[in-house]
This record gives sequence, structure tokens and C-alpha cells, in this order.
Amino acid sequence: MSLLIKNGRIVTAADDYVADIFIEGEAISAIGKNLPVQADTVIDATGKLVFPGGIDPHVHLDMPFMGTFSSDTHETGTRAALFGGTTTVIDFVLQKQGHSLKEALAEWNSRATGTAVGDYSFHMAVTDFNENSKAEIKEMVENEGITSFKTFMAYKGALMINDSQMVGLMQEVKKQGGMVTVHATNGDMIDYLIAKHRSEGKMSPLYHYLSQPEVTEAEASCRFTDMADYTGCPGYIVHMTCEGALNGVRNATRRNQKVFAETCIQYLVLDASLYGEDIDGAKWVMSPPLREKKDQEALWAGINQGMIQVVATDHCPFMWEQKLMGKDDFSKIPNGHPAIENRMELLYSEGVDKGKITLNKYVEVACTNPAKIFGMFPKKGTIAVGSDADIVIFDPAEKHTLSAKTHHMNVDYSGYEGWELTGKVKTVLLRGQVTIDDNKCLVDKGYGQFIKRNKVSGKI
Ligand code: URP
Ligand code: ZN
Ligand code: ZN
Repeated sequence: MSLLIKNGRIVTAADDYVADIFIEGEAISAIGKNLPVQADTVIDATGKLVFPGGIDPHVHLDMPFMGTFSSDTHETGTRAALFGGTTTVIDFVLQKQGHSLKEALAEWNSRATGTAVGDYSFHMAVTDFNENSKAEIKEMVENEGITSFKTFMAYKGALMINDSQMVGLMQEVKKQGGMVTVHATNGDMIDYLIAKHRSEGKMSPLYHYLSQPEVTEAEASCRFTDMADYTGCPGYIVHMTCEGALNGVRNATRRNQKVFAETCIQYLVLDASLYGEDIDGAKWVMSPPLREKKDQEALWAGINQGMIQVVATDHCPFMWEQKLMGKDDFSKIPNGHPAIENRMELLYSEGVDKGKITLNKYVEVACTNPAKIFGMFPKKGTIAVGSDADIVIFDPAEKHTLSAKTHHMNVDYSGYEGWELTGKVKTVLLRGQVTIDDNKCLVDKGYGQFIKRNKVSGKI
């Protein structure tokens, strides 16, 4: 099967030009002006942007967490991602404390294999680093194509590891050619503040926010980069929200360290004024919490300065009924926010259309850098001959409104209800196949493939 995309404005992290793209099978086989080819299907992209399929390297699908499961499965979550122009996601396998990495991987494979609609890969979350799990790292990297290992410096008793485990893990992961990623907040400080607020009868969503002040994230981010510097292990800080944490990374870059930072779309466009005494604030209960306007400014600047390389989502949806588990106690509200479908359009509308970032930067942080950092480039993350034909055709002028009534995520509210955006995903190709067109999904569950990733260098 062959397909020709004619006359689109092709945007990559580096280029911006009008040309045709010829696709044979799953890959791009030619790019040029007025290509002299015959194709089975022709799409006219005149006046449209044509950029690489988005890559969201931080999503939690069907994840057991805080006594429940995130409400998007690998099927519903990857389908919603496609609707929003994201063709590949990286989900998190969670090791159970006292159990092996292999067991955890088998559990996640049983959920995702044959059900995912879009392409996906896994990070391995190491929650119990010991001699047994240490011995499994090599196998994950060499045989499973899982080259990133997630750690939590918070969620004590469930996911958190201590600093000696962190250093041991970093040494082993470095040896095997992988990367350690981190939820960098000080779990002990946060637990202290949660207990304090609860003992004072302060139970509303506001106190979720007040239990995780900026210092808890800044301290842990600096500690993480120091440990990464000591071990020489490539590091990646997920869901960075604030100026203080960003300054930690700034120090690391002065040491020429291999440390990357990710922020998420919600931290760029929403702020802590959404938290109050009302339970409605539970919609935005996530960790770390939303921050201040000054932090939003620091994050946009961090993107433009190259200090933040990735904009992800940390998509972790819960139905409103699940959020209500914490109606009388903020510490029981399942932490997480739905955005897998909204990231590309929100970042375009709030970032590119409002002049905060360039189109090339948009592609860089939403598509190309995640592929480079996590060992999928140039198969994924760009438009080039030989790359997978993962392509978004985007109308930069179309206006539309976000709503739970029309989104495809399996969650019954939207954190962006009524937001009017400029710029809409029209057609999405994944490995040469039209998967989304005119707001319809044209592939079935099982179309999504697991992407084995290469070893990482810590450089892009
Ligand atoms: O609130 C969040 N972020 N939920 C998902 C788990 C995590 O910490 O990333
Ligand atoms: Zn986290
Ligand atoms: Zn997360």
C-alpha cells in the first residue's frame, strides 16, 4: 500500500517547508516537491501543517494506584492519544515490592498486548531495588528494549525508594546503558505535612497543594541530580513544575551532566488558584500539584532555553466517582489528571498560537526529543526518509472547544471544560496507516505495537 500527502507544510524540529511525502508500507520513502509518483491514496494537505506523530513519554494506563486503577486502559488511552495527535506513548510498569521486574512486565504485557490502538513502550518503575532486581536490569535493557528505569522519591510504603537504593540503581543502570527517571519530591517532608494538616482537620483539596510546597520538589530534584552526577548515570526528571526544581537542573547543566527535564502541559497552562475548600479542586489533585504563575513563566522560559526538553502529560485519569474517594480527606483523592488527548492541541494553542514557543520548538518538545532521549529516534519523532510514517495533519486555524462530552478519554470530566483552542488535529497516520480522519478512528484495538527501545546516551 502506498500513500501520498501532497503539498503540506512539513514541520520538524529543524525544518519548515512545503513538500509532498510518499509512504510505502509503514515507512516514509520519499519527500520532495511535486513527487512524480503514483499512490494508492492521495491526501491533499494544502494549507495544513504536517508534523511527526506526538510522543508522550509519561502516561499511566490501567495502573493500580491509591486503592483503585487509572480509568483509561491501553485500548482507550492509546485511542484517545491518537485522536489528539499522539501516536506513541510510554507507560509505566510498576514493580510490586517483594516481587521481580519480570513479573511486573508480564502483568503489564497481559494488559497491553493485543489491546493498544496506538504504539507504546514501557518504562520500568523500580520500587524495590535489591540484589535480585539489580540482576534483572541487564535483561530489561538487552532483551526487552526497556532502557529507562523510573524511581519515586515519594509515595512512601508503596513506590518510594531510599537514597541508597537510588545510588545502587543508578550505578547498575549506567553500566547497562540505560537511564534513571524520577518523580523528584521529598516524600518524608510531604508525609509530615499531610499528617499535620489532617491532624488539624484540614481536609479539602487545598491542603493537597499546601502539603507539597515548592521546596519539596526543589530539594529532591537537586538531590537527584547530585546522585546522578556522582554515579555518572543519565537522569530524567519527570513532571517538573516549578522554578526551584528548574534551578536544580540549571546547576546540573553547569557540570555538563546528562540530566533532562520534562514538564507537563497542565503545569504550563493551569495554576494553583484552582484549589480551594470545594471538592471540585479534586479534578486537579495530582502530584506535584499545580503551582504559581511565576512557575509557569519559568517553565516556558526553561523550554525556550533548552533546559526543559519535553512536554508530556503524566496522564493518569480517574472517574469522578473515584476522585470522590477523597471527598472528606484530600490524602485519599487518587492523584492524577487526564490530558493524553489534549496535549498536542493545548500546546499548539497556548504555546505556538499565543507566541510563547516556535513551531520548531513545539515539534522538538512534543515529538522529537522524547524519541531521542528514550532511544526511538529516528524511527519515531521526525519526518524523514526511512522513519515510520507517524504523521499528523493539522489545521492551524480551526477553532474548537474541549469538553468531556466530546473527548475520547475514559473519564467523565475534563480539566479543560469549555476551553476554546485554535488548531485542530485532522488526520493521523501511524506506521503508514490512516488511524484518525475527520474525528473518526479507523483502526481496531491491537493495531498498536510495542516499541523496543535502544540504549541511551544521555545526549541529544
Ligand atoms: O498525580 C500523579 N502524578 N499521578 C500519577 C503518578 C505520578 O506520580 O506520576
Ligand atoms: Zn509522579
Ligand atoms: Zn506519572
